[in-house]
Amino acid sequence: MKLSTGLRVALGLVQLAPWVDAAPSSASESTLSTLSSAPSSAPPVSSVFTSVASTPSSAVSSAVPITSSPSLSTLSSGVSSVPASTVTSAVSSVVSSAASSLASSSALTSLSTIASISNSLTSASASSLTSVNASLSTSSVVASTGSPTFNTGTGTETGIITIPIAPVSFTPFPVPSDSPISGVFVETDPSSPPSPEQAPALGGPVPDFGKAWSAAHSKARAKVAQLSLEQKVNLTTGVGWEGGRCVGNIPTVGDFPGLCLEDSPLGVRDTDFVTAFPTGITAAATWNRTLIRLRGLFMGQEHKAKGVNVALGPMMNMGRIAQGGRNWEGFGADPFLSGEAAYETILGMQSGGIQACAKHYINNEQEHKRTQESSNVDDRTQHEIYAHPFMRSVQAGVASIMCSYNLVNDTYACDNNKTLNDILKREFGFQGYVMSDWSAQHDTMSAVAGLDMTMPGDITFNSGTSWFGQNLTDFVLNGTIAASRVDDMATRILASWYLLKQDSASYPTVNFNAFFPLDESTNEHVDVQDDHFTVVREIGAAGAVLLKNDGVLPLVKPRSIVVVGNDSGPSVYGPNGFSDRGGDDGILAMGWGSGTAQFPYLIDPLSAIQTRAIKDHTSVSWWRSNWELPGVASVVQQQSAAIVFVNADSGEDYITVDGNEGDRKNLTLWGNADQLITTVANNNNNTIVVAHSVGPAIVEAWIEHPNVTALIWAGVPGQEAGNSIVDVLYGDYNPSGRLPYTIAKSPSDYSAQLITGGGPNDILSIPYTEGLLIDYRHFDANNIEPRFEFGFGLSYTEFQYFNLKTSTVPQSDSDSAALEKAWAAGKATPIAEGSTTAAWLHRPLVKVTFQVQNTGGVAGSEIPQLYIHHPASAGEPPSVLKGFTDVRLAKGQTKTVTLALSRYDLSIWDTVAQGWVKPSGKITFSVGASSRDFRLSGTIPV
Ligand code: BGC
Repeated sequence: MKLSTGLRVALGLVQLAPWVDAAPSSASESTLSTLSSAPSSAPPVSSVFTSVASTPSSAVSSAVPITSSPSLSTLSSGVSSVPASTVTSAVSSVVSSAASSLASSSALTSLSTIASISNSLTSASASSLTSVNASLSTSSVVASTGSPTFNTGTGTETGIITIPIAPVSFTPFPVPSDSPISGVFVETDPSSPPSPEQAPALGGPVPDFGKAWSAAHSKARAKVAQLSLEQKVNLTTGVGWEGGRCVGNIPTVGDFPGLCLEDSPLGVRDTDFVTAFPTGITAAATWNRTLIRLRGLFMGQEHKAKGVNVALGPMMNMGRIAQGGRNWEGFGADPFLSGEAAYETILGMQSGGIQACAKHYINNEQEHKRTQESSNVDDRTQHEIYAHPFMRSVQAGVASIMCSYNLVNDTYACDNNKTLNDILKREFGFQGYVMSDWSAQHDTMSAVAGLDMTMPGDITFNSGTSWFGQNLTDFVLNGTIAASRVDDMATRILASWYLLKQDSASYPTVNFNAFFPLDESTNEHVDVQDDHFTVVREIGAAGAVLLKNDGVLPLVKPRSIVVVGNDSGPSVYGPNGFSDRGGDDGILAMGWGSGTAQFPYLIDPLSAIQTRAIKDHTSVSWWRSNWELPGVASVVQQQSAAIVFVNADSGEDYITVDGNEGDRKNLTLWGNADQLITTVANNNNNTIVVAHSVGPAIVEAWIEHPNVTALIWAGVPGQEAGNSIVDVLYGDYNPSGRLPYTIAKSPSDYSAQLITGGGPNDILSIPYTEGLLIDYRHFDANNIEPRFEFGFGLSYTEFQYFNLKTSTVPQSDSDSAALEKAWAAGKATPIAEGSTTAAWLHRPLVKVTFQVQNTGGVAGSEIPQLYIHHPASAGEPPSVLKGFTDVRLAKGQTKTVTLALSRYDLSIWDTVAQGWVKPSGKITFSVGASSRDFRLSGTIPV
């Protein structure tokens, strides 16, 4: 199927060419083409500019209503006059696409003039954007600190621009091997993915969802052929904010029952009797594929049992900025770790029957002005860092992807031909659909840029208007958008539904009401929790990172414990007392915003410690106030151990907590924590600190205090928080968590900082000038000593590494022999659909084996990590994570570990050739216990 032959626009000089389609591809299209009142082309762009300039912002949002009635007869009147708003949107998108295509050639500086036009066109709708969920909570106040750069919006564009929007065709992904090789490429269905132990990174086969997608697409195509244009459009258009029982809803279309889309990446949001799973950042800190997979599976099962079709997660923003408000929803500051976690989460969720939604695509790295900031990213950084976890999501067969609020290189992410059509659909061969983040769409032409579904459907909440709906129908009827594009959108949406077998008659119907949880007629209060709390407890323990231990942990029958700090006990308002968890006065077990769920209960550390203490006759006292320091100084004296619980919280921008507008306003621990810890340490020589933190925090004020004997970075662990930490404190779970980010000595040591400021109509410019050097890559490249490096974490036992071997894996796939040879000769991978996800590029090429022995006194798990070091000429950071696993070892036991590297793992992105290329020169690697604790090293034998 073809999208179009292309679009040429001479800004201000020639007409906006209609989308030309070779021939109507279905009966309904040919019927529609007979509607005589449809204009043959859109108005001249020159006149559009005039009208845009004088269009008040109110007119921008006065688009025609969401399509409600699929009656063809109502359409002819709709097309006779195209509203100003639709014209605005068309031009905005075209300019955006121009900016985007230029951006792809890395000519970022030349973007400024186009950017200014794009911005002036889009700023009206941006400023009229209602902050999502704002109706549910308090709105934030814009801070004006820092000195950011702004696009002024005063530039003009005079040249003629040709906009090459390439046709996007749709072949199965990954391009299946003609002759599947047992153990190398395996045909996979979402319901039966290969196990975590069989991950390609561990030498396992590359799963091939090609056949499953192609079967789902055939069913979807057959169904779409029976639908009218309006019905197809209705599949792409949410019913509007609060228009259904879920946070997003696609209406019933014929016998298709519609879709329920529901948050969040850590459980089912807005309903009861669900599990509040550990956050993404804590799951990532386990570095344990099996636990991450299980978490995904259980979340998928719970969503399905509530009648949800699409679960809005996982989330893979990169933690580029340590203060980023939503970092805790994601998997940390390294693309490989984040990619593996996304892959396992999605395989798990989808095997539970739910459509996963990989979000937020892409570069949504800070909350401040998230709808009005342009993340300006070079093409190589985009491919190697930010797009990678989404590539892995596509490899996991992800059904949907959510485009983000921000602009990317001066084009809105949901309007971005480069990131949506080029990278996601062409390079990655993504077969599912792209939905907008809530109100992140800015025009109808975004359909052409690759957006398939608008959420929640209305332009602003409850406006009764939509950029799709009637507008999309009109754009097809007036020839602006190809009918085949709408077919493609509808097909992708239905194919994902078929892929997950949600057409089954036994698929549960929605049995809760996200907006009215107390309405008895729409809430069945179905208990979907099963015994999932067991994996919550285990992940909470496995994701706790032991950062310091002067031999005081694990606790052995302590005579007395004093538990200190607010974070040790429950909130005075209960576990769900703050709407969307937007408050912090007790144990921190998730951040705030839409990425949350209701706690069914929340075990706090103090209760769990007391329960455990009974066994040993340990006396337990406590002091919960963080501010009354003289009192704490006295109560901690003469106790065998003083355990201080502190935290740091953050969340989504629509809630402000203690001056933190989503993003953290600084990197210190909250609630007077530094003074509290110091006071305790000054009065008790066995001060154990436990930090529940959404991300890195600066610990310099006390980390070297001689009485601070231990530090556990306990993440944000979900409903079993207290039990999980007790398991670690007492050694029932030997800690094996590793930092998924770097903890610096000073905030300024990080390579990228939060950008604040900006007026209501500004588009904040966020240059990703650090390129590939985020987190540990920057510390390594610039010899900056971190406090605790990425990948670091202690155990109660010790591990030795030895006997390193490398080998190449024999390859015998005649279909890809030529491609493999070209790659070995240093040629870039070809530009083709699915070229980045092609199985040959990802099959194991090099195997690295070594042995790990538990040389300490107790059983435990080690997390061996593999970092590659490219030749200097490649321009890569000194060390780049490309492998890890978890190895469970009894005392004294030795195991052989195998990690595999693919051609993709060894490649870098060639911005000129637009392909993956093996850098010339010697690639070496190290294996070890962190990004700085290398135990073995070798050379890649290719
Ligand atoms: C968030 C998404 C979320 C959506 C629906 C948006 O504000 O950015 O992550 O899925 O709301 O609640």
